[in-house]
Amino acid sequence: MTSDQLLIVAISFGCSAVVCLVGAGLVWVLRRRSLRWGIAVVALVAVGSFVAALMGTARAMFLSAHDLQVAVWVSVVAGTVSVLFALVVGQLVVRWSRVLRDAAREFGTRGSFPAGARGPAEFDELAAELRRTSERLNEAQGRERQLETSRRELVAWVSHDLRTPLAGLRAMTEALEDEMVAEPATYYTQMRSEVTRMTRMVDDLFELSRIHSGTLQLSLQEVSLGDLVSETVAGASPVARERGVRLGGRAEGETLVTADPAELSRALSNLVTNAVRHTPADGEVVVRVRAGESTAEVSIDDECGGIPTQDLARVFDVAWRGNHARTPTADSGAGLGLAIVRGIVEAHRGTVSVTNLSDGCRFLVTLPV
Ligand SMILES: Nc1ncnc2c1ncn2[C@@H]1O[C@H](COP(=O)(O)OP(=O)(O)O)[C@@H](O)[C@H]1O
Ligand SMILES: [Mg+2]
Repeated sequence: MTSDQLLIVAISFGCSAVVCLVGAGLVWVLRRRSLRWGIAVVALVAVGSFVAALMGTARAMFLSAHDLQVAVWVSVVAGTVSVLFALVVGQLVVRWSRVLRDAAREFGTRGSFPAGARGPAEFDELAAELRRTSERLNEAQGRERQLETSRRELVAWVSHDLRTPLAGLRAMTEALEDEMVAEPATYYTQMRSEVTRMTRMVDDLFELSRIHSGTLQLSLQEVSLGDLVSETVAGASPVARERGVRLGGRAEGETLVTADPAELSRALSNLVTNAVRHTPADGEVVVRVRAGESTAEVSIDDECGGIPTQDLARVFDVAWRGNHARTPTADSGAGLGLAIVRGIVEAHRGTVSVTNLSDGCRFLVTLPV
C-alpha cells in the first residue's frame, strides 16, 4: 500500500467513525421508540459515513471539487432511496411484531397461543416458545381440573361410603337403647366390623392426603424385599385361607432396597389383599420378587379373570372402584388402596403398573436398588 492509500484509509476511517458515533447517539435517543427508526438510522449512517469520507478525502486534495459534487449528489439520492427502503423493511418488522403481540394477547385472554403467523427466525423462535408454553399451561390446567374433579368425587364418594355404615350404626344403637334386640351379641359383632371398616377408610384417607400434600416422610433404610414380601404374604394368609385362595410367595436371590419398610409393606399388603379379594375360591395368587440390573421387582399375579382393557389405566385413580355399584360390603374399600400404592411406590422413585394375564392380572412394582 502506498502512503497515499494509507492516508485515504485513515481519513475515511476517522470520518466514518465520527458519523457512527453520531448514529450511536441517535439510536440511544430512539431506543424506546419503534424498531423502524433504528433501522432507518442504520441506513442513514451507512450513507452518511460514505459522504463524510468523501468530504474528508476531498479536503485532503484526493478528489477534485467537481468529482466531489457528483459523488455527493449520487450519495444523497442513493441515501434517500436507502432510507426509504429501510423504513419499508422496518414497517415489515413492526408488522410481524404486531402479529406476535396479538397472538400473545390472545394467549393471555384465551389461554392458547394461535398457530400460524410466520416471520423472521427470531420471531418464529419466540412464537414456538410461546406455543410450547401454552401447551404446557394447557396440560397443567387439564391435570389440575382432573385432580379437582377427582377430589370432588372422592369427597362425595367417601361421604356416601361413610354415611351408609353410620346410618346402620345409628339404627343398631337405637335398637339396643330401646332394648328391642333379642340377640345383642350379633349387633356388637356387626357394629365392631363397621367401625373397623370406617377406621380403615379414614386411615386410608389420611395416608392419601399425606401423599398428595407431600408431607409423607419416608424413613429410608436397607430392607430385604424378600423378607418384606414374606411378611406381607403371611399377613394376608388367614384371609386367603378363609376364602379358599392359595397364596404363595417366591423370591429369587437376595434383593436389598432402600425403602421405608412400613410404607412399602402397606403398599404390598394393599396389592396382595386386592389380589386375594378378586380371586375366586380355589384360585391362586403368586407373589414373586426378582432382582434386575438396577431395579428390584415384585409381581403379584392373581386369577381375577382380567380387568377390562379400558379400565386398566384407571385402577390407580383415586376413588376408582370399577363398575360395581358403590354399596359397601364388609371387605370393600373406598377405592383408595391402589392410589395409595402408587403414591408410596412413586415416593420411593419406583413405578407400579398392571397388565392382564390369560385369566387374571399382574401388578408389577419396580423399585430402584
Ligand atoms: N388384583 C385385582 N384384580 C382385579 N381387579 C382389581 C385388583 N385390584 C384392584 N382391582 C380393581 O381396582 C379397583 C380399585 O382398587 P383399590 O384402589 O384397591 O380400591 P378398593 O380395594 O377399595 O376397591 C377395585 O375396586 C377393583 O375393581
Ligand atoms: Mg383395595
